Amino acid sequence: MTQIAALTTDAELLELLRSSGLKIAQIDTVDFANYSRSAEAPSAVVIDVRGTHPTLPPGVPEFRKAHPQSALVVIVSKLDPQFMLGAMRAGVNECLPEPLTQEGIEEALRGVVVGSQSEPAGQVYAFVGAKGGVGTSTMAVNTAAALHKRTKASTLLVDLHVVHGDAALFFGADPRFSVVDAIENVHRVDESFFSGLVEKSRCGVQVLASSNRPIHGAMDPQRTRALLDFAKHKYQYTILDVPRSDFAMLDALDPVTSIVVVTSQEVSALRSATHAAETLRQRYGAARVRVVLNRFDKNAAVATTDIERVLGEPLKHLIPSDYRVAVEAVNTGIPLVLADSKLARSIKTLASDLAGLGKDPTQDGAPGGVLSRLAWRRV
Ligand SMILES: Nc1ncnc2c1ncn2[C@@H]1O[C@H](COP(=O)(O)OP(=O)(O)OP(=O)(O)O)[C@@H](O)[C@H]1O
Ligand SMILES: [Mg+2]
Repeated sequence: MTQIAALTTDAELLELLRSSGLKIAQIDTVDFANYSRSAEAPSAVVIDVRGTHPTLPPGVPEFRKAHPQSALVVIVSKLDPQFMLGAMRAGVNECLPEPLTQEGIEEALRGVVVGSQSEPAGQVYAFVGAKGGVGTSTMAVNTAAALHKRTKASTLLVDLHVVHGDAALFFGADPRFSVVDAIENVHRVDESFFSGLVEKSRCGVQVLASSNRPIHGAMDPQRTRALLDFAKHKYQYTILDVPRSDFAMLDALDPVTSIVVVTSQEVSALRSATHAAETLRQRYGAARVRVVLNRFDKNAAVATTDIERVLGEPLKHLIPSDYRVAVEAVNTGIPLVLADSKLARSIKTLASDLAGLGKDPTQDGAPGGVLSRLAWRRV
């Protein structure tokens, strides 16, 4: 994978970058704009704006929203405070002035590339309900359980409902500590403190539950963001059950890989989902936001084509309705994806899709599923 993309036509700068030993690709402004629509981006983009009137290429804020982990380093002729302020506001991490030296370039890129190689960040998926009761917790909890079951990778579910969240119940867990303890003490959260706060559920997913007591003072997005950043480096998968009405939470999702807006086929939920998806797309970039339709009923009055027209995107995931399976799972505290059902298969597909894992080889019908289990009979 390209580590550094260089938006420059200067052969000397390209040579300097190459001699740092990193994998460099030369790009133009169109390639740069395309990154904002793509799920992948290089670890850093170096943008050459040297000249008498330095201007950033179009799409810098969009790039920053779509790829919060990638660094943006701008090469300038001299440090102009006005330009630097605008650049930083747009999401640039560093402005590097002439004269360019090997040392200066390596210094600017070191943090970026060393960080990305030695500590690959995990993935964070946020689930936001279009309205109450549409199945947001069901989706979040079962996505976490499905990812852990499939990959055995470290997985954390964070219930961001400060009070009265019920995600822990879905795991049959009764944690002593909560997300409020984590947020209130975020300045001293380290490996051991955090391990003491989370509860390991029976299925292996770790849970940071909602609280029974209200938080002291207002919820602040910076603390939540810091908590998510920490979780992202500790866990391969962090799944968030996000309260729809808490704007501080919705404003703290920068570290998130994808945001899933959960809706039902009800007109009021659809209207709310459209609005939420639009707002979140503006804030975090369209590539990171998707809408999932829960309790899908093909005979419902509102057809999927109408829904897609209103949402402005194809509905990739239609999650079937199965009240018995859904409720029994909550009552037993065993995530429904741990047993087989149409609903379970559908959420597993959503989870694999979010994580870019491809089709689950143990899923029925695929090699390694029912067919492979029957294969020994033929031998
Ligand atoms: N696909 C489904 N089919 C049938 N029932 C479902 C489905 N998904 C969720 N449910 C049921 O709907 C109810 C609400 O689900 P859930 O608690 O996940 O929703 P929520 O959006 O998180 O609600 P809240 O706003 O209270 O947090 C639960 O009883 C759950 O078992
Ligand atoms: Mg819920």
